[in-house]
Amino acid sequence: MVTLEQITLYAKQTGFIFQGSEIYGGLANTWDYGPLGSLLKKNIKEAWIQKFVRENPYNVLLDSSILLNSKVWEASGHIGGFSDPLTENKDNNQRYRADKLIIEHDPSINPDGWTPEKMHEYLVKNKVMGTTNWTPIRSFNMMFQTHQGVVLEQANQIFLRPETAQGIFINFKNIQRTTRKKLPFGVCQVGKAFRNEITPGNFVFRTREFEQMELEFFCKPGTEMEWFNYWKQFMKSWLLNLGIHEENVEFEDHKKEALSHYSNATTDILYKFPWGFDELWGIASRTNFDLNAHQKHSGEDLTYLDPETNERYIPYVVEPSVGVERLVLAFLTNSYKEEKLENDDTRQVLALHPALAPYKVAVLPLMKKVHAEKALQLELELAKHFDVTYDETQNIGKRYRRQDAIGTPFCVTVDQETMENDTVTIRHRDTMAQERLQIKDLKAYIEKYLEF
Ligand code: GAP
Repeated sequence: MVTLEQITLYAKQTGFIFQGSEIYGGLANTWDYGPLGSLLKKNIKEAWIQKFVRENPYNVLLDSSILLNSKVWEASGHIGGFSDPLTENKDNNQRYRADKLIIEHDPSINPDGWTPEKMHEYLVKNKVMGTTNWTPIRSFNMMFQTHQGVVLEQANQIFLRPETAQGIFINFKNIQRTTRKKLPFGVCQVGKAFRNEITPGNFVFRTREFEQMELEFFCKPGTEMEWFNYWKQFMKSWLLNLGIHEENVEFEDHKKEALSHYSNATTDILYKFPWGFDELWGIASRTNFDLNAHQKHSGEDLTYLDPETNERYIPYVVEPSVGVERLVLAFLTNSYKEEKLENDDTRQVLALHPALAPYKVAVLPLMKKVHAEKALQLELELAKHFDVTYDETQNIGKRYRRQDAIGTPFCVTVDQETMENDTVTIRHRDTMAQERLQIKDLKAYIEKYLEF
């Protein structure tokens, strides 16, 4: 298993992920996605949209704004309750999340629902981190604040969204009216979210700026557990079909007593990250909590008229929610390998599913002087359909290795025969096997491998 240090170094050296603001000494816990990382991210989002929207009979897509009327966050409970219990170790002047400290100290304890006083008492009594010197716990709201307009006054204060979900709830009526969808139906959204996390870390696992892919699935009250199980399996299949090894994922059902007050079921898909199993993707059955709250606060009628029974009710919601960057980290660590070859050489391989690979194909002229023109022509042709790269430097073996290391599933070599009969060799990343194909058949050949 690759370590977190190895994958961080690999991501930086190859051009997947760079430190944010690097030439200015960085900005803590920010990351920039380079030429390869931005393609990987794009492909992950497209693969999610492919299965959750395009091929799915129930769901549609939304792109709502990051800045919302602050009343949204009052209604959702984020202004009142979206906070972490913050404490400070007076010996080292470091700030910590008290709930995390308690779990680290004794993993059998679940401090969700504990009062700040109880958490503080625990830290002191159990000498967590070897000290009793803990400040009283205060609630730290994780929403980033800013101001809209030129006057920095309270009335202009707004927040960057800490989740994409609320943009969906407040558009429920608009979407239902314009799509004329009947229940059950779902709304998918991909977009940035911001949380002023007290303890970000583990590379891109927990950051203050990240991207979410959320589905709010609206259904008839009483049918929510059926849909909860449907989406739970759907999420797992999506991961496995894209090459996540089954032994690297686990379901963790939240215990009844640890559920949020509005949820009647919550499960996390845990992934085996380099530091152990940790949350990748959550699914929550949220009852009618959100729509109900928005109906109350906005005064708008958010009920649904069931055409079959003529009943009016507020739909229930099942919500699968995942972070794109956590998926990036999972797919990178899941597919990174160092392989021993027969001649005692090793090769680095990123065995990503072709649908996720940054480049689908690399075009390589066998001899630059003789074959480059034809190869560049072929690159342009293929680039109409796929993300393609071109490499003419060093010997062909080295060029294959470079592509293996960044996950390119196919290398196409232009050689003397190409000049004579318009055929090329195509080499497979995983098996290193080669075959000869007509140029005109390349597109269809590669497309077959992109399906999942
Ligand atoms: N609307 C529900 C919601 O936002 P959440 O469990 O707070 O639920 C959902 O977040 C997912 O978003 C998580 O499972 C994780 O994949 C991702 N996520 C949350 N906070 C994150 C952070 N600080 N950095 C990166 N990803 C994060």
